[in-house]
Amino acid sequence: MIELPPAPACAFASDNAAGAHPSVIDAIVRANVGHQLAYGSDAHTAEAGARFRDLFGPTAESFLVWNGTGANVMSLATVIHPAEAVVCSEWAHIAVDETGAPERALGAKVMTLPSVDGKVRPEQLDALAHFIGDQHHAQPGVLSITQSTELGTVYTPDEVAALCDTAHRLGMRVHLDGARIANATAALGGTIQALRSFTVDAGVDVVSFGGTKAGLVGGEAVVFLNPALASRAKYVRKQVNQLPSKMRFIAAQFNALLHDDLWIRLAEHSNAMGTRLYEATRSIDGLSFDAAPQVNSVFPCLSPEAIVPLQEWCFFWNWNAARDQVRWMTAWDTTPADVDRFAEGVRIFLAECN
Ligand SMILES: Cc1ncc(COP(=O)(O)O)c(C=O)c1O
Repeated sequence: MIELPPAPACAFASDNAAGAHPSVIDAIVRANVGHQLAYGSDAHTAEAGARFRDLFGPTAESFLVWNGTGANVMSLATVIHPAEAVVCSEWAHIAVDETGAPERALGAKVMTLPSVDGKVRPEQLDALAHFIGDQHHAQPGVLSITQSTELGTVYTPDEVAALCDTAHRLGMRVHLDGARIANATAALGGTIQALRSFTVDAGVDVVSFGGTKAGLVGGEAVVFLNPALASRAKYVRKQVNQLPSKMRFIAAQFNALLHDDLWIRLAEHSNAMGTRLYEATRSIDGLSFDAAPQVNSVFPCLSPEAIVPLQEWCFFWNWNAARDQVRWMTAWDTTPADVDRFAEGVRIFLAECN
């Protein structure tokens, strides 16, 4: 039996294991006064709409929803045409972690492309061009990319722009799953300009803007950067069960998170804890990493015998069983002491194992 220090107070399982930021809770309490009309006809939702226009420009149209899967389904259902397919990386959350929700709700094929780093590349889209116009093939209609990706990588603005150019040339629309858009924004410079550089300026049509992992109790936004595509959005939101009745509470949370760039500052912290974790563990014998983290997650490979006992000590998820690769993820409230204690436990355990 290997003696380990007490487990850290936080989990390294996911950023949604964290609670909500106190200013988000305060905002919910402040919004809990009196009556406001439901379904978005309230002052908080109007303010959230203005805040998203401040982020993305005056023609951006935002729609608040319950969760990330719902944001993706709503985005895709709004912009896809009959007989089209959604194209994404083989790691995409929409393909592997949404229980087939997009396929069920859209009645459309989700076509996955191989990827070693979670990113899609323009030449992979070009390789699908031969399907276009052939009545025997689902037509590539929507490209969905994730930023930051499910493997903790970040597309550069130029990479997104090249994908959007190729997709648009092929007649496709572009969706960005931004469950961790805050972490990507922080990684790319931590400014609104950084956010715009890989979204509206790059040509993305619609964004699932993550709130829950960034510090909300719960809530996400679908933001149409191409307003021409938004005309059916409010009907689709209702059809896919993503129209919150007391929307003011989701809006109030976003208004707190977007105030004074809190969402970016929290993501900067979370990313910094990811880097600290990498630095504290990278030289431990028995661990190997493909790359330094770009955001708030590291993906070490380690001996399979070590995985379960370490998970029992402080839980984290398996990521790629074929490689004995796991994911350690930090959150907006992970502390340096949590990271150091986790790294120390891993170091002690692996030293005893080896
Ligand atoms: C990349 C990505 N997209 C979407 C989601 C979906 O979020 P939810 O669990 O709120 O449906 C997640 C959640 O883990 C995610 O990691």
